Amino acid sequence: MNTSSLYRALRFFAPDWSRVLGALGLVSLATGAGLFKPWPLALLVDCVLGTNPWPNALRQLAEVPKPVQVMALAALTLALHLGHGALQSALNFTLIDTGLRGLMRVRQAVFEWLMRLSLRRLYSSQAGDILYRVTWDTYAFQTLFQHGVFSFLTASAAVLAMGWVMARLNGSLTLVAMATVPVLLSVMTAFGKQMARRAELAQAQDSTLSSSVQQGLANLQLTQSYTREPQEKESFRAQSSHSWSLRRRQHALEVLYLATVSVVFALGTAAILLVGSRQVLAGKLSLGELLIFLAYLAQLYEPLNQLSHVGSTLSNARAGTRRIFELFDDPTDLPGGAIQLPISDTPMAANGISTAGPLVFDRIYFGYEPGHEVLKSVSLEIRVGQCMAIIGPSGAGKSTLLQLIPRFFDPSSGVVQWQGVNLRELDLRSWRAQVALVLQEPLLIRGTLFENIAYGRVGATSGEVEAAAQLANADGFIRRLPKGYESVVGDGAVRLSVGEKQRINLARAFLKNAPILLLDEPTSALDAASEAHVLESLRRTQERRITLMVTHRPETLRFVDKVLVLEDGRVVDCCAPEAVRWQTTFMKKESADGL
Ligand SMILES: Nc1ncnc2c1ncn2[C@@H]1O[C@H](COP(=O)(O)OP(=O)(O)OP(=O)(O)O)[C@@H](O)[C@H]1O
Ligand SMILES: [Mg+2]
Repeated sequence: MNTSSLYRALRFFAPDWSRVLGALGLVSLATGAGLFKPWPLALLVDCVLGTNPWPNALRQLAEVPKPVQVMALAALTLALHLGHGALQSALNFTLIDTGLRGLMRVRQAVFEWLMRLSLRRLYSSQAGDILYRVTWDTYAFQTLFQHGVFSFLTASAAVLAMGWVMARLNGSLTLVAMATVPVLLSVMTAFGKQMARRAELAQAQDSTLSSSVQQGLANLQLTQSYTREPQEKESFRAQSSHSWSLRRRQHALEVLYLATVSVVFALGTAAILLVGSRQVLAGKLSLGELLIFLAYLAQLYEPLNQLSHVGSTLSNARAGTRRIFELFDDPTDLPGGAIQLPISDTPMAANGISTAGPLVFDRIYFGYEPGHEVLKSVSLEIRVGQCMAIIGPSGAGKSTLLQLIPRFFDPSSGVVQWQGVNLRELDLRSWRAQVALVLQEPLLIRGTLFENIAYGRVGATSGEVEAAAQLANADGFIRRLPKGYESVVGDGAVRLSVGEKQRINLARAFLKNAPILLLDEPTSALDAASEAHVLESLRRTQERRITLMVTHRPETLRFVDKVLVLEDGRVVDCCAPEAVRWQTTFMKKESADGL
């Protein structure tokens, strides 16, 4: 893991700097306590049982009887073990707590990113993949902090401290013990990159798997009605077996890595035994010192083992953090301009912009993919108080045209203007506050019907919500539900018909009461009476706003001021409703298709 991405990942822990400092303090205290643990035994052997002099700090013990000396050393052993255990527990808890706090912050940042995601990016990604990243890949940050960085610090501190004490006891034996460290580091780097690559491949495949599950659920009705279960099962079987094989490859390398590490340890231990016993035979080490050496040797295994795991832990964590940073590095928002508009429910003047100005498309070209234009030289002008219908065959680009107004996409050339200002110069959020949009496919959030309608305006009162529902002819059916406006809709709750959903979506837009109202076939699933009611409401409320309505229904044209006919991305007619050659427009298209 390179230092800049490590630094970037650790910045999520920066607000907890006091906890991190506390943890560092605990690391030093615990290391110190660990260092003293074998000393009582060494003193027992050398000074109580043997004849060596007591060290200066404990000289008073030389004066007391031997049983008291033994008691004191036993008490010291107990205190050191308890103290070390308590410090270690406090350290573990601090690390877990701080790690989880970082994880929480990363998830919040990813969700914030998600809320700003551009439609272009959304269309080009799989929801399951993003879900996997938010749910699973974010754990990499906790792992990195807790098992990567801190394991490394604790283990290094222990190795260095023990190395120092050992060096003071016997230099040549220490050299033998410490020789394992560079060997271990080379093994770590040799395996590290490859392990990270394999982990990343496996994670990407697991992501795809999670997308498949999501797709499977979303398309369940389709699958069952066409009895395609066997094919779906087969395709999932192939994917999950690919996932198995990638995970297997990843773990096989990890097993090989750990085996190599064990061999290094085995060689190291054998070498120390060989050299150590020769030193004892030559009388260069006291018995107590040898015991300390042996105890440290055993204690050294744990931090070195930890250090050897740090490599694979970091590799795994690197794969996860990289997949999260990939998200952050992807531009989401369209850049907005500096002009702020008032975020209010009534059209009003701001920054010198007159409220009476029109919405203008000036020779707009736009395509979802480069080189494939969906809108070609589209120009239109619509004034406040007017309602314009957009008609044309399926696939002509009607919905696309509406999407350019809230700037879900920007045109590849040409300018969209409101009140004489290019939309790109307006602050994006405050511009979107001026637009109410009813999508072709009605959307409900999980929550009550009241919340669904009130989504259109923060802090809406029940009177306002009911008035909006009445305009959309939704009040009647809502009141007939057992729980009325408090009925919960969504997965596993009340299911609405398509026409009912459309009316909830309309009510939401009526409640927003924005200066620009965009409706994409808002009445396509309504019966004639409901449709007439909605169109009448639109007409009653349209005088201070600009309304654009995509429609396929000739009846709706009676309610509009102007009709724009779009065919294959081009404006072929823009006229008063009476003048539309509705039939001919479509007949021409159909005969061209050979129907
Ligand atoms: N997200 C997208 N990515 C790529 N191409 C798209 C996307 N959405 C629409 N298109 C293409 O753009 C063209 C216009 O689509 P659009 O949805 O604007 O048509 P429409 O006039 O609203 O049709 P309908 O009446 O069926 O709703 C179509 O050819 C469609 O394939
Ligand atoms: Mg459409």
